[in-house]
Amino acid sequence: MGRGCKYGQRGSGVKQEAERPNFTAGTAHILEGMGTLVVIFVLALSVAASALDNGLMRTPPMGWLAWERYRCDIDCDNDPKNCISEGLFRDMADRLAEDGWRELGYVYINIDDCWSSMQRDAQGRLQPDPHRFPGGIPKLARYLHDRGLKLGIYGDLGTHTCGGYPGTTLDKIQTDAQTFADWGIDMLKLDGCYSNATEQEQGYPLMSKALNATGRPIGYSCSWPAYQGGLPPRDKRRLTMAVNYTQLGEICNLWRNYGDIQDSWDSVLNIVDWFSTNQDILQPAAGPGRWNDPDMLVIGDFGLSLDQSRSQMALWAIMAAPLFMSNDLRTLNSEARTILQNKAAIAVSQDPMGVQGRRLLKEKFGIEVFWRPLSNSASALVFFSRRSDMPYRYTTSLGELNYTAGTYKVFDVFSEKLLSPLSDSTPFTVSINPSGVVMWHVSPITHLGQAPHARGGEYPNVRGKYRVSSWRSRSGGADPPSAL
Ligand SMILES: *[C@@H]1O[C@H](CO)[C@@H](O)[C@H](O)[C@H]1NC(C)=O
Ligand SMILES: *[C@@H]1O[C@H](CO)[C@@H](O)[C@H](O)[C@H]1NC(C)=O
Ligand SMILES: *[C@@H]1O[C@H](CO)[C@@H](O)[C@H](O)[C@H]1NC(C)=O
Ligand SMILES: *[C@@H]1O[C@H](CO)[C@@H](O)[C@H](O)[C@H]1NC(C)=O
Repeated sequence: MGRGCKYGQRGSGVKQEAERPNFTAGTAHILEGMGTLVVIFVLALSVAASALDNGLMRTPPMGWLAWERYRCDIDCDNDPKNCISEGLFRDMADRLAEDGWRELGYVYINIDDCWSSMQRDAQGRLQPDPHRFPGGIPKLARYLHDRGLKLGIYGDLGTHTCGGYPGTTLDKIQTDAQTFADWGIDMLKLDGCYSNATEQEQGYPLMSKALNATGRPIGYSCSWPAYQGGLPPRDKRRLTMAVNYTQLGEICNLWRNYGDIQDSWDSVLNIVDWFSTNQDILQPAAGPGRWNDPDMLVIGDFGLSLDQSRSQMALWAIMAAPLFMSNDLRTLNSEARTILQNKAAIAVSQDPMGVQGRRLLKEKFGIEVFWRPLSNSASALVFFSRRSDMPYRYTTSLGELNYTAGTYKVFDVFSEKLLSPLSDSTPFTVSINPSGVVMWHVSPITHLGQAPHARGGEYPNVRGKYRVSSWRSRSGGADPPSAL
């Protein structure tokens, strides 16, 4: 469910109360420019964060997750096609396997809240609802594995899940980790309803250890920071630091920082704004094996227009976000499918260097520019319009965006067209639809003059004093760049 508590979308009578996360937006300075970027990368390099050592999720995980679209619909008598049941997950697995998703990297099928029975079994283990999962979870896991897919499941650190099902209290962590491993589970999302800060500080690292001890590689998604406001405390005198992104990177593969996404453009914008406003803290936290999670893709549902759907895809790729769709793959329209299966956008998302992108510019007239450095000296640019009048003709040049002198190859991601080679000094104009994007994949063809940082390659083709000499050698390899 994630921060479902916030919205009171409960399937049970458990009372919603004060333990839901507090989303008071931070007031971190918005330092957009690449001047800042230089500082951040140098900082990120010196922090030497390391990733959870389970070998998983070296690029942001991709797949399908039930929550946003199916919530806690347990009414299989009246809504058999959409209720949380083994049939729903088998249906979606069939679609991933047969409709070209798996080959593009969408391999996880993730169960969210409301899957379990209200009681643990006689041995104290979690068990699925017997009417909705008559075959049991191991059989469902086999069904997925036979199709080259992976199965994710949901738990909650606390007395109950957000939906009121049995939670994982501290004394149940080992039992539940072992149960999931025995069932053949490949990923766990551990929510945080009905636990306090002290229990979370103990429980999230303990579950990481317990999963490791099972010997089965299980991707670990932690909702912990979302329950602690998503940002480190500003008061440095506080002795314990509830949100510590260095620690999160060591114990979790991904983490929800912020509230649950809803099926609306307002919700998408709210999330993008929070992640961009706080990018100086969040961006260095990400890297291979450890990702910020702005929550599911709602492309193909009801709330987003065609342009807004492209915007979500583009911005999630820039943010190096996990790509979990929450939609009905059985009835998805072809426009949504085309966006979600866009190979160039997926390539940006899945870039092996694993550096999260940033918002570079926020123009007063409602245009924003996002940028993500990619391996092989390439980069992605997203021109995003927050306007609501008409397509906006935005003029700039790569030089103005601080790209180094040279000529660049530009591929327009959504029109799927290669543009004419573009010199850094040549002004260009992009026409950006209201609440839409233009997304480019940019790679260098030639460089004029002295490349400013030729020693380690010209990454990332922007002017500035990057200490990047060893990035190139790492870019295809297994280590996160920030481990340097
Ligand atoms: C380009 O670099 C200059 C100097 O560091 C900086 O002031 C400016 O904000 C940068 N522009 C962008 C778009 O990042
Ligand atoms: C457990 O952790 C060790 C040490 O960090 C690591 O080498 C190993 O691959 C991990 N095993 C699993 C199953 O995650
Ligand atoms: C957190 O909950 C535990 C019970 O599990 C309780 O003993 C402890 O006092 C609580 N801590 C805070 C800070 O509320
Ligand atoms: C954050 O976590 C890291 C790694 O676990 C630790 O070394 C560091 O001391 C923590 N920082 C704070 C302020 O607690």
